[in-house]
Amino acid sequence: MKTLVVSGGFPLKGEMAIAGAKNVALKACVAALLTDEELILHNVPRIQDVYSILEVLKSLGVRSVFKHNTLRVSAKHLATTTVPLEIGASLRASSLAMGPLIARHGQANIPNPGGCRIGARPIDRQIDGLRKMGASILYNSTDGYFHATALRLSGTDYTFTKNTHTGTEALLLAAVLAKGRTILSNAAQEVEVDDLISILSRMGAKIKRTSQRQVVIDGVDALHGTEYTLMPDRNEEVTFAIAAAITGGEIMIHNSQRKHLGPFLRAFRKAGAMWKPCGEATTKYWIKGNVRPTIITTAPYPGFMTDWQGPWAVLMTQAFGNSTIHETVFENRFSYVSELMKMGANIEFFDPPVKHPEEFYNFNWEDHKNELHQGILIHGPTKLHNAVVEMRDLRAGATLVLAALAASGTTYIQGIEHIDRGYEKIEERLTSLGASIRRVTRGDGV
Ligand code: EPU
Repeated sequence: MKTLVVSGGFPLKGEMAIAGAKNVALKACVAALLTDEELILHNVPRIQDVYSILEVLKSLGVRSVFKHNTLRVSAKHLATTTVPLEIGASLRASSLAMGPLIARHGQANIPNPGGCRIGARPIDRQIDGLRKMGASILYNSTDGYFHATALRLSGTDYTFTKNTHTGTEALLLAAVLAKGRTILSNAAQEVEVDDLISILSRMGAKIKRTSQRQVVIDGVDALHGTEYTLMPDRNEEVTFAIAAAITGGEIMIHNSQRKHLGPFLRAFRKAGAMWKPCGEATTKYWIKGNVRPTIITTAPYPGFMTDWQGPWAVLMTQAFGNSTIHETVFENRFSYVSELMKMGANIEFFDPPVKHPEEFYNFNWEDHKNELHQGILIHGPTKLHNAVVEMRDLRAGATLVLAALAASGTTYIQGIEHIDRGYEKIEERLTSLGASIRRVTRGDGV
């Protein structure tokens, strides 16, 4: 078993360049299925989720070569239209292969996807959209696969019932080679979706975001290869900014994405933490004085992102007063709470009053209404101390690492395969900022 061993209490200081966005990299790799020419992607993070999607693609016959952070992907010959169960089911992005495989070979067999266990995470909205585009899709609960066929998908007018980031991308990837015009309404506004739109446009797709939540795609007969540099990862920037604040340090972030971090930057200031632009793509983060409590409600873009709420909760354990976080996107994103409590945090669950929960929550509320605790109340400040804790999903992993950096003593964090899904060389980079963090395997003396 691998464990991160973190000795807390060192202020993190120095400079850090943000890596490419995981949630674009995965989709860009799938976009390679849409052409038999090569896609050259720069700024691709070397993280486990990217390796996993490349394994999925390899099983379909796609070849890829990594050199530093440049990835060349070629889907010249496809060997099969079936994504293997085990690896495909572990990664939500593997469901995106459905549209491209139908476009290339008229069929796709995709396992019911997984991803971080932060909720049920069904793909009903994208399946519904693909059916409207003419795909015949059957779910076989015996083999765990969606079996999809269509001679050619057709453009359609489709309105998502609720926001879906991956669902919007799934229909984009399906519509670019469909016959005719597709209009996606109530489409996700996440900036990662727009980066995917830029990649597809460079490949020859005809796509326009005609209003904030509407995207129009005119299908073309073929796409070609291209070269593209992925946008930086906004979740990484938030993680390092909070690392500076929670340890009383000061970090200069390069490849900074301030324009995509509005709600975070406002909350950071409100909490008494500081940030300052130092050039177009450089931002300095630090803290001065006491942390102040905040009230946060997560939301799809342009709201306070669900991925940020765990790291934010760590900062709020240091606030002078009571803070709340209301999670509205996923129904199970508080797996870190029990672990933070082992480290001395004082956190209670509560049920925020919501008038029309079935409309308000981004997940399918009807499926979960009896098991919900969507709010946490954090009583601060509390001194965090060492413990043995376990991460259960990627962002919960970042949350626990932040808590350990701020805690007294040495914390042992298990389940670190989760953080490896989304952060490149996390311990090396934190060490370069002055953290004491190392990775050990059982038998190394833990
Ligand atoms: N949902 C459904 N049915 C659908 C689609 C979504 O019920 O067909 C529900 C989901 O279960 C969730 C909510 O709607 O409760 C929002 O889901 P969405 O599709 O928007 O999110 P996602 O595609 O599952 C992506 C990122 C997440 C990020 C969210 C929000 C990828 C691979 N994942 O998830 O990233 O938190 O959008 O921006 O792009 C992470 O990086 O740690 C991560 C979880």
